[in-house]
Amino acid sequence: MSLEILGVLLHRNASEISRGGGPAFDVEMIGKMARAFDENDFDRVLILQNSYAPDPFAIANYAAAVTQNLAFMVAHRPGFIAPTMAARMFATLDNLSGGRAGVHVITGANDTELQCDGDFHTKEERYHRSAEYVEIMRKVWSSSTPVDHNGTYYRFNSALSELKPVNGAIPVYWGGSSPLALEKGAEVADVYAIGGLKPVDQMAGAVAQIRDAWARTGRPVRIQTSARVIIGDTEEAAWKAAADVIEALRETALEQQRKIAGSDEALSTGMRLDPRLATTKGGSGRDELEAIAGGKELLDKRLWTGITKASISFSTPMLPPALVGTAEQVADAMMDYYAMGITGFLIRGFDLYDDIALHGRELIPTLRRLAAEHDARVGQARTQLA
Ligand SMILES: Cc1cc2nc3c(=O)[nH]c(=O)nc-3n(C[C@H](O)[C@H](O)[C@H](O)COP(=O)(O)O)c2cc1C
Repeated sequence: MSLEILGVLLHRNASEISRGGGPAFDVEMIGKMARAFDENDFDRVLILQNSYAPDPFAIANYAAAVTQNLAFMVAHRPGFIAPTMAARMFATLDNLSGGRAGVHVITGANDTELQCDGDFHTKEERYHRSAEYVEIMRKVWSSSTPVDHNGTYYRFNSALSELKPVNGAIPVYWGGSSPLALEKGAEVADVYAIGGLKPVDQMAGAVAQIRDAWARTGRPVRIQTSARVIIGDTEEAAWKAAADVIEALRETALEQQRKIAGSDEALSTGMRLDPRLATTKGGSGRDELEAIAGGKELLDKRLWTGITKASISFSTPMLPPALVGTAEQVADAMMDYYAMGITGFLIRGFDLYDDIALHGRELIPTLRRLAAEHDARVGQARTQLA
């Protein structure tokens, strides 16, 4: 299995507990963060998209120019530009970066938020459209002769891209946990991204469902999850840091509520403050998250639901549970997910810039060592069976 470590590259140094201040779009910081991810052994970064945030393509192209090895997972919402054009944009990023482009297909959870950019389709329609969109991009990437298409959402004649992906194709990542997300994802995506950590037994159930969906289409799949982590030099220090995160979240929530009351659409992390326009609203993972938050504070080895409970009680965007402990303890807990076949981890703390070096120094080397040891054990067992 091949471990992929991902981070999140935002257009400013911010997280859910940031209190504002500093430039809303920080070019210098984008460069610093991109270089830090590159130097600290991250494989790839996600660049977010919503109806309010800056253009992720421009950010990816800029970040590609200041890094060597870092790859990109550019969030991209079908429905706003022609897929033939998107295929050429991704092929351009891929060639500019020497084969480091990746597309994360965002079908979108919140109808009202998508309407801000003029998309009035239902979620069901959007998932069908996303699959058609990816099929078209793949045709444009691979075909050396003009392509005609007459589908449900798109129609064009003689589409052609002069530029082809460096490695023949660009990896397609896919998110969304509704049944249709799985069904359509299995038709076109290479990597399925599970939104956040859940208890090990529930995650095993999700992995089985994903494998079933992809088995039905006969396509291979890589599975990824996002892991919020809070790390300390000692376990005690990590729990102290977790308590500080809750306190900071409480203060940020109060500040945001004051801003909303004053109708001040201030910038936070590129999300709109109006809760009706939250990108996650309407997402099918919310009920499951609420049920997890309703249970025990500590699950499995060190999965802490305190942060989820707090986000619900402070009415901030809902946060998935986090792993809390020393780097060794957190990496060990992450291996329980790796062992079930999740090979991609989008790691994120609550201090965007400083955490890149902390994770690069302490967590990532341990993860890579434990994953290599796991792979060797599995390889040995297979040899003995053969
Ligand atoms: C790793 C990851 C990154 C995501 N990034 C974005 C994003 O940038 N913008 C956005 O609107 N939704 C984002 N999403 C949300 C989904 O792609 C999806 O549209 C949403 O969860 C609806 O899914 P549902 O089918 O579960 O309701 C992301 C999801 C995952 C797992």
